[in-house]
Amino acid sequence: MKIPTQGRPPADILAEMKAAKSGDTPWKTGKTWTLQYHVDDEHHELLLAAYGQYFDNNYINPFLFKSILKMEKEVVGMVADLLHGPETCLGTMTSGGTESILLAVYACREWARKHRPGIGQPEIVAPSTIHPAFDKAAHYFGLTLRKAEVQPSKEADVEAMRRLINKNTVLLAASAPSFAHGVLDPIPAIGDLAKRHGLLFHVDACVGGFMLPWVEKLGKSLPAWDFRVPAVTSMSGDLHKFGFGAKGASVVLYRHTQLFENQVYVNTEYSGGIFATATMLGTKPGGTVAAAWAGLQHLGQSGYLENARRMMAGFDKIKAGLEAQPELEIIGKPCMNMLAYTTRRNQPDIYAIADYLENKGWVVDRQQHPPSIHLTVFPYNLPVIDDYLADVQAAIAWAKQNPSASGEGNAAMYGLMARIPLRGMVRDNVRKVFLEQYGTSATTDAPIAERKNTLQPPKWMGWLNRLLARLGR
Ligand SMILES: Cc1ncc(COP(=O)(O)O)c(C=O)c1O
Repeated sequence: MKIPTQGRPPADILAEMKAAKSGDTPWKTGKTWTLQYHVDDEHHELLLAAYGQYFDNNYINPFLFKSILKMEKEVVGMVADLLHGPETCLGTMTSGGTESILLAVYACREWARKHRPGIGQPEIVAPSTIHPAFDKAAHYFGLTLRKAEVQPSKEADVEAMRRLINKNTVLLAASAPSFAHGVLDPIPAIGDLAKRHGLLFHVDACVGGFMLPWVEKLGKSLPAWDFRVPAVTSMSGDLHKFGFGAKGASVVLYRHTQLFENQVYVNTEYSGGIFATATMLGTKPGGTVAAAWAGLQHLGQSGYLENARRMMAGFDKIKAGLEAQPELEIIGKPCMNMLAYTTRRNQPDIYAIADYLENKGWVVDRQQHPPSIHLTVFPYNLPVIDDYLADVQAAIAWAKQNPSASGEGNAAMYGLMARIPLRGMVRDNVRKVFLEQYGTSATTDAPIAERKNTLQPPKWMGWLNRLLARLGR
């Protein structure tokens, strides 16, 4: 690969990109139930235009681009209002949920260094369903993350969290809701725990921050999950998820300046001058701020509410359809338009069902602990819900007739990866797959339908998987 010796005409380049894109996941058909947050084409065009106006501004210095700063402050203010932040509530936009969580953990660690100087390595206590961004934050910033087993309903077990608190604990964290199951943790009870032990408390509303307010307005009664709980000291909510902004946009919020100030990094000795940033990035896009601001203005409260109403209606329909299948069960009680389902006692194997659905063209999100299929209902999924339910029914019948399917294809590989106790081996293999994707022998050029066949597992994986399943692992 080399930079072309001669430049090429724009039309040529765009045509090549368009052709390449046709091999990507066809989410607009509705057959994808994950990752692609999209309202409609009009909103999409607005985001593009808003982003385009600022795409080349380097927003590293907020004092240079006052119009971006104004938009960022307005976005943060609107989100603080949505999440019932008090007058003192402050924060910033970030590049996504992970950065919001990294910054919140970092700010809490720095706060603890100042205010609790006696502690050793600082610790976080969270339910086991917490997003891996917290593992990443603990790993990057030298904290210990202690994970408490959750209840069978997949809600955080507050007593199990309490047992993990020790003299080094600085932060409790919980989800509103968790991504894997769409289940809301008991935020008020965890808030009481934080208060009793004098701890900071972060609520991760990355996926729920722009859905739960509308779900509540639609009449669903939920326990308080945001700054209404007085012990909540920080929150994250993603604009690039149900905020329907462009990718690369989230908000991190703090109840008090005393916590927020720890997020701001200042270097007084850099030869390039005094260097300070409020977030992790150096050079920073202004476009994401502009698109998020424009998105909020365009949808308005009524637009978000209407979209939430449509997605929740679709969700209720798909949930009822899945519940009508005697072999299936929904995991826990999802509080918004996302859920995970599995088969009772894994009969038939849920990963075999996933393989069948994938062969029918559905993009399937497989999960573990327990093995399950995850889906989120977006507006573009609404027209295909009946088709999906019909294919799920056919998949169950097929998997029952073909019990050996659990030992074949992707089912064997995912099954084994979920069940095998040798987690170090799984980690090494996943890392290897990643390196291969970025390496010269990368298979990413192949059309998606062919790509998944590169995951063909050896036969022994199937046998071992079935054995572990039989042993109830
Ligand atoms: C609950 C939750 N927290 C954090 C994140 C991380 O967000 P991002 O992928 O934007 O970094 C996600 C992403 O799905 C999430 O669902």
